[in-house]
Amino acid sequence: MRTTELPDGESVPVLGLGTWRMGEDPRRQVEELRALREAFEIGYRLIDTAEMYGEGGAEKMVGKAIAAAILAGEIRREDLFIVSKVYPHNASERGVQSACRRSLERLELDYLDLYLLHWPGNHPLRSTVTGFEALRGQGLIRHWGVSNFDVSEMEELWALPTPRHRVGCCVNQVYYSPSQRGIEFALQPLLTSRRMPVMAYSPTDQGKLAQDPVLKAIGVRHGKTAIQIALAWILARSYRIAIPKAVQKKHLVENFEALGIELEARDFEEIDARFPPPARPVPLAML
Ligand SMILES: NC(=O)c1ccc[n+]([C@@H]2O[C@H](COP(=O)([O-])OP(=O)(O)OC[C@H]3O[C@@H](n4cnc5c(N)ncnc54)[C@H](OP(=O)(O)O)[C@@H]3O)[C@@H](O)[C@H]2O)c1
Repeated sequence: MRTTELPDGESVPVLGLGTWRMGEDPRRQVEELRALREAFEIGYRLIDTAEMYGEGGAEKMVGKAIAAAILAGEIRREDLFIVSKVYPHNASERGVQSACRRSLERLELDYLDLYLLHWPGNHPLRSTVTGFEALRGQGLIRHWGVSNFDVSEMEELWALPTPRHRVGCCVNQVYYSPSQRGIEFALQPLLTSRRMPVMAYSPTDQGKLAQDPVLKAIGVRHGKTAIQIALAWILARSYRIAIPKAVQKKHLVENFEALGIELEARDFEEIDARFPPPARPVPLAML
């Protein structure tokens, strides 16, 4: 698996699996569990989930799949990188303590590899960060980060007093895909200057990019699909992680195989013509 680095130098897979919409419908449980087990078999090691997804249902699915795969000897906990997120309304200093413990219980885990504030909320950022740092001290989370933070919110975060020995925020998870390039203007360069990866959510525009004529045409030249080209394009630059969600096995495999694609100058030019990079500040896209 290709990796990128967190600000503390730890390696993280550049491709992970999203889980939004999983754990919502009991009738889909068998299929979703199968998908998660297949994902481990294929080689996915980073899983992105949140207390919001299925109101805990997605975390439970992920927990069941991990427990079964570990029991079967297919994976080890230390090989996984598990990401979850706290609702902004739970993100007070004390709130993150209980929310994190609830997530861990659903996930059947002792610790999270990364815990994110799902989007900016009303609790003072300082209290969320204090809560995250306390969780880190207790060994319940290994890293923390944010999601849906635009430039001004990152600046507010960086302005908080942080003791020197602490790494602080490790990741910003935002909507990023070939059609949603706003972060390239200011946010991504700022994060990259701090060696902080962007975690690209909805990297396939929720599957819609499969129909894009330009991505499809580039795919034909490479013997690949439009979605694979989109993922390869996102991952062509450093400090990027993509977390496409898939339940269908053909999607899981297809997305994973995007890791091996090397795009050429002509491909980048055609994607720039189809989805021009931002020429001025653009508000952060969100789903
Ligand atoms: N932080 C946030 O606020 C935030 C917001 C949105 C998402 N996220 C995270 O990011 C993850 C990914 O985003 P997302 O789920 O919104 O969108 P996405 O990953 O871009 O798209 C998922 C959809 O695309 C389909 N798909 C996947 N691979 C495909 C392929 N190769 N060809 C055709 N269709 C394909 C999936 O179908 P099947 O499932 O049927 O295979 C699913 O319907 C989420 O699951 C979640 O973990 C975070």
